[in-house]
Amino acid sequence: MSKLKESGFDHTLTMLKEGYTYIPNRTEKYQSPIFFNRVLGGKPCAIISGKEAAELFYNNDLIERKGTMPKRIVKTLFGKGAIHTTTGKVHIDRKALFMSLMTDENLSLLRQITKDAWENEVDSLIKVNEVNVYKKSSEVLTKVGLKWAGIEDTPKNIDKIAKEMDLMIDSFGQLGGAYKGYRAAQKARANVEAYLQNQIKKVRKGKLKPRENSALYAFSHWKDMNNKPMDLALCAVDLMNVIRPLVAINRFVTYGVLAIHEFNGEKDKLKFGTDDYVYQFVQEVRRFYPFVPYLPGKAKKKLTFDNQKIKKDQMILLDVYGTLHNEKLWEYPNRFDPTRFENWDGSPFDLIPQGGGDYHTNHRCAGEWMTIIIMEETMKFFTRTISFEVPPQDFTVDLTKLPGKVASGMNIRQVQALNN
Ligand code: HEM
Repeated sequence: MSKLKESGFDHTLTMLKEGYTYIPNRTEKYQSPIFFNRVLGGKPCAIISGKEAAELFYNNDLIERKGTMPKRIVKTLFGKGAIHTTTGKVHIDRKALFMSLMTDENLSLLRQITKDAWENEVDSLIKVNEVNVYKKSSEVLTKVGLKWAGIEDTPKNIDKIAKEMDLMIDSFGQLGGAYKGYRAAQKARANVEAYLQNQIKKVRKGKLKPRENSALYAFSHWKDMNNKPMDLALCAVDLMNVIRPLVAINRFVTYGVLAIHEFNGEKDKLKFGTDDYVYQFVQEVRRFYPFVPYLPGKAKKKLTFDNQKIKKDQMILLDVYGTLHNEKLWEYPNRFDPTRFENWDGSPFDLIPQGGGDYHTNHRCAGEWMTIIIMEETMKFFTRTISFEVPPQDFTVDLTKLPGKVASGMNIRQVQALNN
């Protein structure tokens, strides 16, 4: 038996129980960037960590991603046929559609929509006694997402869709857990999909005319490499894959506000510093706090990594959280230090909170630039537009719980508008 192999028949439960700490604990124990265990009913799995691991993982000739995501995540989170589950030419063809939305014009628009959306909230934030940042940002970001995607509706309908989206996303936290939450999430997903299908139908018939550079327009009119329009159900699924993850940025927002509170000096550095500093702060939030723990794939052929053999078709997990806290890549990785990004070389294989590799040919997150922009504007809002107090609460970020979050969701109170 390899010295790098965990004993036992299945480690799925242990992995869930230990959460983000599971892999780093073992790479530390074995002093190795690879070790082996068994998951999902005893399937042999190679777990790889670090920059070289990410380079291997994003080599399309060696690693297959299709069919490796747990079915339950695909069903509730991504949707049937979603881009995440595609491979080869189909993936590259559809990914081009997503990436075509990331123009300078569209990204500037997103920045403006985010700024306006937060500024519109100032009065209501002042009026209430206490604000839960996690909840509030989910609401604000849903509106940002829908507007940016070109979906306009009555405030009542937008509110309704925002609530269902929240339900759908939150169920992710109950992975492997409550069946009831899973059912509720599936129902919410069905409702949102039906709503989006209806919007797409109207655009196709010319009854709705969204902005030409919007996601709704692009998805409704897109033709694949065989010159075929997207099937209506699939079109709604992937349109949702633009809006839903945007709302999930609320987790980073919550972490950002926690960092402002917990780390001395950060508030003033954001408030009085340059936009470069805001960017560095956002990058550090994405590196430092737990979000995506690992990503699944499988070996397309026999492989060797760090002198260890991986069999063809063997399952492989890329350690995302551990790579973001690897001391060979990040000096004092457990220290929150935005200045580490002052001279970062922009490698596609070390800062991988949203996947790595190439945007167009790998599964790397299509919305990474959007995430950074939304976070930048939101952190500016919380430091330059308003002031607030932070009451006593549970600030724990429990690394053994997936997905990570601040226990309290970050409550703030006594919000005041700053005179700029
Ligand atoms: C909270 C912030 C976000 C996180 C943590 C996140 C994380 C990720 C991760 C880990 C992947 C998979 C990488 C892989 O499989 O190699 C991914 C893919 C993807 N993300 Fe994000 N994401 C976020 C925000 C966004 C936003 C705002 C969008 C909006 C466009 C987006 C759209 C996508 C799409 C379409 C894919 C699939 C790409 C593909 O399969 O090629 N994400 N994201």
